[in-house]
Amino acid sequence: MTSILITGGAGFIGSHLTRHLLQTREAIRITLVDNMQRARMDQDLQTLLADPRVTLKQLDLTDWASYVALGGPYDEIYHLAAVNGTDLFYKIPHEVLRINTLSIHFILDWMRQYSPNGKLCFTSSNEAYAGALESFGQLPIPTPEAVPLVISDPYNPRWTYAASKLIGELFCIHYAASHNLRAFIVRPHNFYGPRAGYNHVIPQFSERIHKRVEPFAIFGSEETRTFCYIDDAVRAMALLMASDATDTRPIRTFHIGDEEEITMLDLAKRMCAIEGWTPATFDVKEAPSGSVKRRRAAIDAIKEAVGWTPTTSLDDGLRKTMEWYRAFPKL
Ligand SMILES: NC(=O)c1ccc[n+]([C@@H]2O[C@H](COP(=O)([O-])OP(=O)(O)OC[C@H]3O[C@@H](n4cnc5c(N)ncnc54)[C@H](O)[C@@H]3O)[C@@H](O)[C@H]2O)c1
Repeated sequence: MTSILITGGAGFIGSHLTRHLLQTREAIRITLVDNMQRARMDQDLQTLLADPRVTLKQLDLTDWASYVALGGPYDEIYHLAAVNGTDLFYKIPHEVLRINTLSIHFILDWMRQYSPNGKLCFTSSNEAYAGALESFGQLPIPTPEAVPLVISDPYNPRWTYAASKLIGELFCIHYAASHNLRAFIVRPHNFYGPRAGYNHVIPQFSERIHKRVEPFAIFGSEETRTFCYIDDAVRAMALLMASDATDTRPIRTFHIGDEEEITMLDLAKRMCAIEGWTPATFDVKEAPSGSVKRRRAAIDAIKEAVGWTPTTSLDDGLRKTMEWYRAFPKL
């Protein structure tokens, strides 16, 4: 029986990862730990919890007593818990730093004591190098893992999240080396799908399309991004966890993202086409200051390590996502 721990397990990625593991593996026991700060006890989560192989523990991962309550050992540990969401970077930057850095520090301390033979997946972010893109603007696109991680302005609260991820990566690399722990780092690049919250571009476009909002405003219409459907994303994480390509010393970092780059204007048009509705005007507005023009991950490392490539087309992923947001609109 494989014992799996998913921190932040009731959130977006955690719930899809749980579903994927339940569908693809038999002899597993999954413990989700979440303080429910962001996650909701909705229908999707209840369905997962109805499976006898899944348990949810409501604990705060900034409190060491929670780790004692978790016990161990666990074979596979996915550390997803973090304060996430751009609005929160501006509202509570000090908490973003405290919660995200304390929890990765505690997870590593706990692993050393309670699960020394387990393997840890730490979810960093593409934000860890976004400051380098913004400051130097000359990073290669697609961007490989080995680029400088930069905090371009420590006074701008936006960068507290990136800083917490950057520190988390350093903790993992050096703690794993010093204590001989197995670990790897992933940098998600815009995962999307059902249950991703309501503050990202796809849920927001979806809501406005469903409500037929006119004029249809688009900030930074020529900026490009890539979007990775959540089923592909969690499959990538599980493949990396199962592979001996992540048993290396020093530990490795992998980008997970899609390769199809799309402008914000084209994204809106694609979503409108799926809905079969076109607004009379797309109201094109300036991008917020400091916003990066292009972002696209190089994914050669994960391809070479585990043979992963995304298989969900953007149209299919958008269709499934829009259906979910139609069924579960923002309250
Ligand atoms: N979704 C993406 O595209 C994306 C991109 C880059 C990085 N990431 C990273 O991936 C991880 C998961 O992201 P997500 O999109 O599922 O976010 P999410 O907000 O849906 O999930 C995070 C979960 O952590 C929980 N949590 C927060 N603080 C906690 C604490 N102190 N104790 C216990 N639980 C706590 C929240 O309640 C939430 O359910 C995060 O670390 C995030 O930074 C995600």
